[in-house]
Amino acid sequence: MTEQRTLVLVKPDGVKGQHIGDIITRIEHKGYQITALKVIQATKEQLEAHYEDKVNAPFFPELVSYMQEGPLVGVIVTGTNVVSIIHRMAGATNPSQADWGTVRGDFGREWPDGNLRNVIHTSDSPSEAEREISIWFPEESR
Ligand code: PPS
Repeated sequence: MTEQRTLVLVKPDGVKGQHIGDIITRIEHKGYQITALKVIQATKEQLEAHYEDKVNAPFFPELVSYMQEGPLVGVIVTGTNVVSIIHRMAGATNPSQADWGTVRGDFGREWPDGNLRNVIHTSDSPSEAEREISIWFPEESR
């Protein structure tokens, strides 16, 4: 198994809820290296590129509005088999269905406005990770 990189985005609810440190601590406790990190105010163009296969989904306008509610924290995490391990750390898409012990299970919940807010994004394959890294960290693109 070769070294991989993955992208984590701490979403606006994760930043506002002050969970940046908790999330980074979980990654570091697992033994993975943080190799880049920055605070980002997402543009519509970045979101359209990141969620390129979701731009026609009915929830896409809601997703853009959520992702622009405040800053994100982008993190590149590096290590052996890191993509699937960090993806499992996030938990199920809906925080109400995510297991306790996952980031979304521990720090996420549903809200009365019905908009899905789920604390964190993690890449779901090595090729997606590299594609996403080039959007949020063009200077780290390979
Ligand atoms: S799908 O439709 O099964 O492909 O959806 P999924 O793979 O679970 O999710 C794709 C990304 O879209 C986000 N998502 C939503 N955002 C806002 N509102 C609604 N209703 C919604 N449904 C899905 C979901 O969180 C995924 O984004 P990331 O950043 O990967 O979590």
